[in-house]
Amino acid sequence: MIRVLAVGDVMGRPGRLALIKGLERARAEFSPDFVIMNGENVAGGFGITKKLFEELISPTFGIDCITTGNHWMDKKDIYEFRDHPRIVLPANMYNVDEPSRGLRLLETKGGVRIAVMNVIGKVFMKGDNSSPYDMADKMLGLVPSYCKVRILDIHAEATSEKQGLGQYLAGRVSAVYGTHSHVPTIDERIFKKHTGFVTDLGMTGPYDSVIGMDTASAVQRMRTGERKNFEPAKNDLWFYGMLFEINEDSGACSGVQRLRFSIKDS
Ligand SMILES: [Fe+2]
Ligand SMILES: [Fe+2]
Repeated sequence: MIRVLAVGDVMGRPGRLALIKGLERARAEFSPDFVIMNGENVAGGFGITKKLFEELISPTFGIDCITTGNHWMDKKDIYEFRDHPRIVLPANMYNVDEPSRGLRLLETKGGVRIAVMNVIGKVFMKGDNSSPYDMADKMLGLVPSYCKVRILDIHAEATSEKQGLGQYLAGRVSAVYGTHSHVPTIDERIFKKHTGFVTDLGMTGPYDSVIGMDTASAVQRMRTGERKNFEPAKNDLWFYGMLFEINEDSGACSGVQRLRFSIKDS
């Protein structure tokens, strides 16, 4: 059995602080074998820089794989490292040229192989994204049969779309989880005794905010359309993620657990 920890959208510098403290506690209490995080907001809320990517996969953070989402290209230096085996782009997004960018084949330190996939939703999402269902099928067709542990991040707004994809992939992947809303859900379960699922991991970052952004400027923007001082909030930091227990021989998930730490408790 291996434990895969998936951490929700890490929001700017406050999110990185919550991440490092949350990981310290998660590692001490649960010893995850492999850590995935969503990094689309890690650079000031918008995208990911090369410097941050390198820091996140270094021993300081020890992240094994970084999935992304609609903000993947907000920082242009992503074009310098988007081929790196530890970064995953949403394969079916309108501006992702190669679907293979949405699938990475990696392994744990103990040598267990893991496929990590990233797709994006169509409902209430910008751009004409192709079907995440068809893309997931296509990517699964590229995963070698010996690689039984298969994890998919569905980056989407609509809860129904995330659950639909989770049910569609039930029995075929080890875990499906949602990202993007920055709002955690408490509906974790296991479909067909095989596929661990949660609608949204939630955000790792400042919860005294509007989905991570500074409250006053977010409210002002929504009321008036004016975009001023639009940056991550700073207070009430939380680490949010899910721990999936997976049998490496069958790929079946036998346990899904919510990890939710206030960093004041770390
Ligand atoms: Fe996000
Ligand atoms: Fe997003």
